[in-house]
Amino acid sequence: MSALGQQLSRIFPRTEDVPETHRLPAFTDQTEYLINGEFRHWQGPMGEAFSPVRLRTANALMPVPLGRYPLLTEAEALTALDAAVAAYDHGRGHWPTMSVAARIGHIKEFLRRFKDCRTEVVKLLMWEVGKSLADSEKEFDRTAVYIEDTIEALKDLDRTSSRLDIREGIIGQIRRGPLGVVLCMGPFNYPLNETFTTLIPALIMGNTVVFKPPRLGILLYRPLLAAFRDAFPAGVVNTVFGEGRKVVGPLMATGKIDVLAFIGSSQAADALKKQHPAPHRLRCVLGMGAKNPAIVLADADLELAVRECILGSLSFNGQRCTAIKIIFVHKDLVDRFLKKMTIAIKELPCGMPWDPGVFITPLPEPGKPAQLGELLKDALNRGAQIINPEGGTCNDSFFYPALVYPVAAGMRLYDEEQFGPVVPVVPFDDVETPINYVVESDFGQQLSIFSSSPDATAALIDPLVNQVCRVNLNSQCQRGPDTFPFTGRKGSAEGTLSVSDALRVFSIRTLVATKDLEKNKELIRQIIHERKSNFLSTDFIL
Ligand code: G3H
Repeated sequence: MSALGQQLSRIFPRTEDVPETHRLPAFTDQTEYLINGEFRHWQGPMGEAFSPVRLRTANALMPVPLGRYPLLTEAEALTALDAAVAAYDHGRGHWPTMSVAARIGHIKEFLRRFKDCRTEVVKLLMWEVGKSLADSEKEFDRTAVYIEDTIEALKDLDRTSSRLDIREGIIGQIRRGPLGVVLCMGPFNYPLNETFTTLIPALIMGNTVVFKPPRLGILLYRPLLAAFRDAFPAGVVNTVFGEGRKVVGPLMATGKIDVLAFIGSSQAADALKKQHPAPHRLRCVLGMGAKNPAIVLADADLELAVRECILGSLSFNGQRCTAIKIIFVHKDLVDRFLKKMTIAIKELPCGMPWDPGVFITPLPEPGKPAQLGELLKDALNRGAQIINPEGGTCNDSFFYPALVYPVAAGMRLYDEEQFGPVVPVVPFDDVETPINYVVESDFGQQLSIFSSSPDATAALIDPLVNQVCRVNLNSQCQRGPDTFPFTGRKGSAEGTLSVSDALRVFSIRTLVATKDLEKNKELIRQIIHERKSNFLSTDFIL
């Protein structure tokens, strides 16, 4: 067995190898869930969360149970929804009619409590989804910054709305009002950040929320439940735990969900939308699949292209919706590209989430290594090869990255989103090949172009900007910075999420208007001067 093969066979630690600071407290049961400002305690069936990390004993790999969580039923889900509906009260509730400044006060209070949970949440991110310590910390800190930026963006929005407009004999004050009850569900790969990038803007705009943690990355919400309970008025934030099919479908079927904020597969999004009895009333903010290509032209800076393609395709083991999931490389360059990619993959540190500098870690989805294995088998059967030594080696939940070449139409890897550490490379000599791929793809999120030529780059930008929503030049695909718009065409997304766009998608422009007559002006003056309305107000948030 090669040295690398040996390392992979002993990739999992023994109990005593786990550093003291990264050990988890003893296994616990979470019985509590948050409804209408109070914890309820569940006595029924429980789900069990296991880590992707295994512990090695003399002759076996032992699963690590992390804790149990409530498997609620339709009845509890509907109670959570009722609480959100009552708190919204057709837009007449305390929360949707509260002043923006007061709502910001609650979000700030939540943020203070949120930050206190950092150590615990980061540790659970590592253990529950296998994210490296550095990336787990980044996910937590990025979320805190997102909340701060959202507050600032709302202040900006509010400042521009704190004035009256007089046009064509009509005086108006135009603001953004909430939409109602929002159902928020994030994905397992960014269980904290991506849930919060919908949850926080939904809340701050005056909506009430029911949220369900993703299927993996559940326990990390436990420390945050008290922060939600204590920072928000009763009924504004409610949680459901359990199997999506059992608890989410019934919520949609009531027709009482006004906005669906969901990040996951397009099949699940379609199924949820269909369950709503009045789809024309349902707004959707969806992040779905992607198969972002990199296009490496003959004149690309090879070092740079390899560096960015490694980051793009293998950060968090390729489990990012924005990951580069297929690489088209010009034939003149492809041999050198593959050689450098092979070396670069070999240098990637593999190990456990807390290992310093680790890049490749175990995969949290049960059955994922087998599914990736099937994709490899299909590609190999159709003439591709695994280029890098030990590529595709699997040790339980750990899957060593596979560089696969030449990938071609007809292989599953060509069209399917692998969402894991498999890097398909397609050779081309006519640039129409990758262009057609993008045009015909069911997805339309992002792509990356690698070239040193302004002419060649520009010739690709123009046909491709109408296919995807972000064209990255000599850079990997990514969502950030969070102030930039994040969206997609075709089957990749619905709605746009950036800090400021998110405030828009969770609200609707609403105005108070009157004819420019002295009597009406006096009416407005009195309401404003005596601060009789939170909406019709020129108060300015500093
Ligand atoms: O999984 C999709 C994430 O939104 C990607 O975010 O590009 O910052 O890793 P990222």
